[in-house]
This record gives sequence, structure tokens and C-alpha cells, in this order.
Amino acid sequence: MLVDTDLSAYRIAAEPYYRPVGDEVAVFEAAWLHRLPVMLKGPTGCGKTRFVEYMAWRLHQPLITVAAHEDMTAADLAGRFLLTPEGTVWHDGPLTQAVRHGGICYLDEIVEARQDTTVVIHPLTDARRILPLEKRGELVSAHPDFQLVISYNPGYQSAVKDLKESTKQRFVAIDFDYPVPELEAEIVMREACVGPDLARTLVSIAACSRNLRGQGLDEGASTRMLIHAGRLAAGGVSLEAAVHAGIVLPITDDAEVREALGAAIAACLA
Ligand SMILES: Nc1ncnc2c1ncn2[C@@H]1O[C@H](COP(=O)(O)OP(=O)(O)OP(=O)(O)O)[C@@H](O)[C@H]1O
Ligand SMILES: [Mg+2]
Repeated sequence: MLVDTDLSAYRIAAEPYYRPVGDEVAVFEAAWLHRLPVMLKGPTGCGKTRFVEYMAWRLHQPLITVAAHEDMTAADLAGRFLLTPEGTVWHDGPLTQAVRHGGICYLDEIVEARQDTTVVIHPLTDARRILPLEKRGELVSAHPDFQLVISYNPGYQSAVKDLKESTKQRFVAIDFDYPVPELEAEIVMREACVGPDLARTLVSIAACSRNLRGQGLDEGASTRMLIHAGRLAAGGVSLEAAVHAGIVLPITDDAEVREALGAAIAACLA
């Protein structure tokens, strides 16, 4: 089977727009120097994926992203034998590709995956840096440029689904949250192509929604949602309609919470 050994399809050609909000770039670079595994913690839509894309570009590394889901098994990461007309052929999974050829493997929301995936991750994320492919009888030593990055949202897990202590303690963690208002407005301006006044209004709406966290809302409006609302408004939709479609409707199905959020937003817009 033809293997693309420099993983060129996974290289990021152009610099992704990423606005640093703290010392995350320096921390990641220091971790990369020692190929330490990194955990990005934070709520949805706050810039974790954009950050890892930016870092992969900055470090000239391919980026293989795997979105974890509850049916994901170790074989989905490591690989499996596939039946072909020529017989049974081994097919490297995305993790094995990064381990063999070098690059950043980003496991998004790893906690969603089945427990057996951690068995695969453990020997890779300690001093051994190896990936045992039991079915194939092979022990793959990680390429010098292999690095594992996972994302993890501490707010969403039940105790049953939380990462094991022995998994958590293998990672360097970088905490993400929604940026401070001036920075968030800068990001919304740039990503939604809107002016500074509209961006600031959207950011103040986000603050209102984030105050309702725990009072019917699991999360306030993310930076991603502000960008969506901004794009709708830039496309000619009225601000009220853009905020309704981009923020209020997607964030909750509860009529009462919607009303409370709507009232808080109306106060912001007044
Ligand atoms: N610091 C930032 N610099 C540039 N863009 C940002 C930044 N933070 C957020 N964004 C914007 O917000 C959007 C959502 O961010 P991203 O997809 O990285 O979120 P995430 O944290 O990975 O969310 P999830 O946990 O849902 O996957 C990005 O597409 C980007 O437009
Ligand atoms: Mg993401």
C-alpha cells in the first residue's frame, strides 16, 4: 500500500489566523521542544482547534485531527487489517500514521472515546514513546517529531466519563477560556468581517449570556457563536435577527431560558 510518508496532505499551507490571548504559544513551544503531550482544556468554541492548527503551521508539522466519539475504539486510532481483493492488508490508523512519520496528532474530546483507547495512549505519552500494534505484532517507536495533543472540556464530563488520573498526569495542560472583551472583539471583527462597534456589541451580548451560566444555560455564547451572528449581520440580516439565529436559538431549547436570554440581550442592545 502506498504510504504518504511526509503526510503532506496534513500540512497546513497558509498561516491560520490565531490571536494569542496569554502565554499559550510559549508554553506549547516549550512542550514541543521536549515532545511533551499537551492537553488543551476549555469550553466549546473558544479557539482550541484554531490554536493547534496555528501551532502545527508554526512548527512546520503535519496535523492529524481525530474527533473522538463514544464508539471509537483503539483500532480506530491504531489501525486494522482490511480485506482487499489481494488479501488481508494492514491499514495504519491516524494515530499510527503520526507516530510512524512524525507530526502532531490532535485527539479532539478524547474523553468521549472508549476506555481501551487510553491503553494505546499511555505507552506513547510517557518516556517509552512507543505504540504497540498487538494485532500486527509490531512495536512502533515514535518518530522524533511525533507529539500528541488532546482536547478536554472539564465542564462536560460525568464522573464516569472523566479521564483517569493516570491519563491526566501524563499531559502538560493549557487552559483556554473566552478572551477578554477587547481581544474577543478583535477576533470577531477579523473573523466575521464586521466593524468595531458591532463586534463590541456582540461581545457584550456574550457577557450577558455567560452570566446566565448555571441558570438554565450550560455554557454562555462562545466566540464561535459571536462570529456566526456577526457574519449573519454582515450579510444584511438585522442585528436582532442575527443574534436570535446565531446565538439564542442554537444555545437552548427551553422557552423560559430563551426568554430570559432574549430579555438580557435586549437590555444590552438598548
Ligand atoms: N484566539 C483566537 N484567534 C483567532 N480566532 C479565534 C480565537 N479564538 C476563537 N477564534 C475563532 O473562534 C472559532 C471557534 O474556535 P475553535 O473552533 O478553535 O473552538 P474550539 O475551542 O476548538 O471548540 P470545540 O471545543 O467546540 O471544538 C474559530 O473558528 C475562530 O474563528
Ligand atoms: Mg475544536
